Amino acid sequence: MKKADIAVVGMAVMGENLAMNMEEKGFRVTVFDVRDGVVNAFMDGNGKGRNFTGAYSWKELVESLERPRRIMLMIRAGSPVDEVIDTLLPLLEEGDILIDGGNSFYQDTQRRYRALKEKGIRFIGTGVSGGEEGARKGPSLMPGGDPEAWPYVKPVFTKICAQTDGEPCCDWVGEGGAGHFVKMVHNGIEYGDMELICEVYSLMKNCLHMEDEEIGKIFGEWNRGVLDSYLVEITADILQYRDEDGEPLVEKILDSAGQKGTGKWASQAALDEGVPLTLISEAVYARYISAMKKERTEASRRLAGPSPAAGCSREEMLPALHDALYAAKICSYAQGFSLLRAAAAGYGWELSYGSIALMWRGGCIIRSVFLGKIKEAFDRDNSLTNLLLDPYFCDAFQGAQAGLRKVCARAVEAGIPIPALSAAVAYYDSYRSERLPANLLQAQRDYFGAHTYERVDDPSGRHYHTNWTGTGGDTESSIYTA
Ligand code: 6PG
Repeated sequence: MKKADIAVVGMAVMGENLAMNMEEKGFRVTVFDVRDGVVNAFMDGNGKGRNFTGAYSWKELVESLERPRRIMLMIRAGSPVDEVIDTLLPLLEEGDILIDGGNSFYQDTQRRYRALKEKGIRFIGTGVSGGEEGARKGPSLMPGGDPEAWPYVKPVFTKICAQTDGEPCCDWVGEGGAGHFVKMVHNGIEYGDMELICEVYSLMKNCLHMEDEEIGKIFGEWNRGVLDSYLVEITADILQYRDEDGEPLVEKILDSAGQKGTGKWASQAALDEGVPLTLISEAVYARYISAMKKERTEASRRLAGPSPAAGCSREEMLPALHDALYAAKICSYAQGFSLLRAAAAGYGWELSYGSIALMWRGGCIIRSVFLGKIKEAFDRDNSLTNLLLDPYFCDAFQGAQAGLRKVCARAVEAGIPIPALSAAVAYYDSYRSERLPANLLQAQRDYFGAHTYERVDDPSGRHYHTNWTGTGGDTESSIYTA
């Protein structure tokens, strides 16, 4: 029998759909799953009469493949990936290629890449975004790892991925864990976008007292302009979806958010890199506080706030909400790309920000028209330090910031939580401030701990210490960052 081009290990929803996508694009695919009966069920079901090889053992899987073997793992991130690698290693030969398509932590990918390289196995850690439909019809793919493996994987990936304006939403990201780092930032941005949409929905409900169906229609309209995106589109659908009793289903869903951890990793990476990723971090915290349902219910009975908003006019607030969402989104992406830039410098990755924007432009969960504009911004200048400084986005924010400020002020007055929207204003105003009150902060540090400060009238960078009380010593603390 003719050998297969590639194998997919793990036939859960993403693996199965990706395998079917590959086969449909002309590749012969071996499928394997450790769970009893899964391969059989697939071969007798969706795989029947198609160009698939069912493997029933690791040995069969390996023997079914053309060399160098290409094996894509679509399994749960974490220790299962290490376990599968350990199982496969004795069966593989030098030059074979392992691809991890799960949401793995980028540092695990770095570690696996290094360990496998020593053993002659070429490892790729790739972001795969787009959910079930994306996997089947064309996901966004963000591969990184061993550059030697890329020429063998490229023909498959660029064929199965989403295409936007005739270009594949997939490109080589960089060495080691770069692909999974980019996917992690994608997911952080996904958290931010979702939280912003939720805050706007909450304001429409609680400030403007709108019905879900009306809100859904507004999101539907917004989806035809600068906010055109998958997440706005599905929000319009969700809000207009009715349960069997004719009531909006969304209102029957418990307000306690889950998460698998990628948003948290993005915030942790931002703390490590010293990058203010405030909006995404607020979105992560918003999920945490939502999950404290019991405690919040108790607190809601004891902690008073302003009485519900009155006197908000839709004519005034709806355009402001539109602009607030747009302006905040610009800040969020500016922060996300700043994190990519910092990580690239630290890990020695040569990231092409325009091609990352293109990878996210189609196929993935954050796909949007907006990402096309981001691509244009980085195509103009790949060394752009902050998206807010690009002329297009500078003007766009300028046009939308009044709406953002109005919405934030109104929400604070009305006692409606807007952690992500307000993080956007705080970030914008901090970033554009030539002088921040950190002078006082430095004085406080020096006062209580002799941590020293620099002076505005001495550009040499010399550190000074003042004996603020006259009773402290003159010994300075050393300068270091833990
Ligand atoms: C994607 C998504 C996906 C993610 C889910 C769940 O790009 O297709 O980001 O990879 O796992 O959206 O994420 P949370 O459970 O953390 O919300």
